[in-house]
Amino acid sequence: MNILVTGGAGYIGSHTCVALLEAGHSVIVLDNLSNSNYEVINKIQHLSGKEITFYEMDVTDPLAVSRVFQRHELDGVIHFAGLKAVGESVENPLIYYKNNLVGTLVLAEACLKYHVGRFVFSSSATVYGDNQVPFVESMELLPTTNPYGETKAMSERMLLDISKANSDFAVTLLRYFNPVGAHESGIIGEAPDGMPNNLMPYITKVAKGKLKLLRIFGKDYPTVDGTGVRDYIHVLDLADGHVAAIEGLFKGVNIYNLGTGKGTSVLELLKAFEQANNHVIPYEIVERRPGDIALCYANASKAEQELGWKAKRDLISMCRDAWRFEKNLKD
Ligand code: NAD
Ligand code: WQD
Repeated sequence: MNILVTGGAGYIGSHTCVALLEAGHSVIVLDNLSNSNYEVINKIQHLSGKEITFYEMDVTDPLAVSRVFQRHELDGVIHFAGLKAVGESVENPLIYYKNNLVGTLVLAEACLKYHVGRFVFSSSATVYGDNQVPFVESMELLPTTNPYGETKAMSERMLLDISKANSDFAVTLLRYFNPVGAHESGIIGEAPDGMPNNLMPYITKVAKGKLKLLRIFGKDYPTVDGTGVRDYIHVLDLADGHVAAIEGLFKGVNIYNLGTGKGTSVLELLKAFEQANNHVIPYEIVERRPGDIALCYANASKAEQELGWKAKRDLISMCRDAWRFEKNLKD
């Protein structure tokens, strides 16, 4: 299939491009490089041994997007392009609503106009809010605590309505849990600019000596050891989930959790990292981070039953691969 990957130079997008190319698909990447760089495109080609077509453009620009749809006979779109920093979305909601909602609308409009019937969207477990764990696709969504989360819930809603009204426009909403790790080569991975917001990149920066110690946000949650519990999933498993989703039977709207189904606390992740990489990570316990919930993990059985996809990699591989990538990074 010819697949347009928006945000394909980013963290999850780049791993998915490699997986798609390895599965024999042709890949066209559209990215404005606002949170990535062109080098990643070369790395995707190097890892897969295949060429891709790259457009440096903004997904919110309808004319530019239209040109891509005219130039290529697309079979499907995987839409990763978006902004994802929770704190930044609270400070600057307008940019988040504009980028994430307009991008989704522009792409959906182009799909209808050019008869592209497969659309896979990067959603997030954040749309479940503070529901009862494990989160199941059929649950009623609860409000999220930030504009970023709202852009995901709203995009889901828009795509559902558009698909309902257009029977040839099939949509798969993938709700990711906490993606971590990197390609085993150590060549592509997550390289946040500045101070990391997420736990794993923070730990790898402490391991590298770039940050002094990890601050653990709260030890009084109703969890196994008082620290927050999340469902960490290897980015390579996530990438395989996208291949399964775009190749899967396509009709109407499909929603899948992409998680492992296992909850891991902050302290458990820290221990796994120390064990995998033989590194001691100094830490201190501080106040809870506003907006955090205690528990977040998936019921991952629907994706297994319907897509034949299941996360395979364990916590140790996630920690080892994240660290290998960080060590290779030139700072
Ligand atoms: P990322 O920032 O690494 O990748 C996003 C890519 O999109 C970047 O390359 C960026 O340059 C590009 N981009 C952003 N706005 C654009 C625009 N207007 N036009 C064109 N390109 C644009 O993020 P990621 O971690 O790979 O996340 C990919 C998607 O998955 C995002 O939609 C994100 O919200 C979603 N998601 C991420 C996580 C996570 O923890 N990483 C969890 C759940 C959902
Ligand atoms: C994980 C756990 C923290 C950093 C976020 C978004 C979510 C999704 C994934 C995009 C929590 C604790 C963290 C630190 C800590 N993104 N922590 N010290 O908050 O589950 O999810 O990223 O869609 O929408 O909200 O991920 O990695 O930030 O936190 O103690 O320095 O680690 O409190 O329990 P989170 P995270």
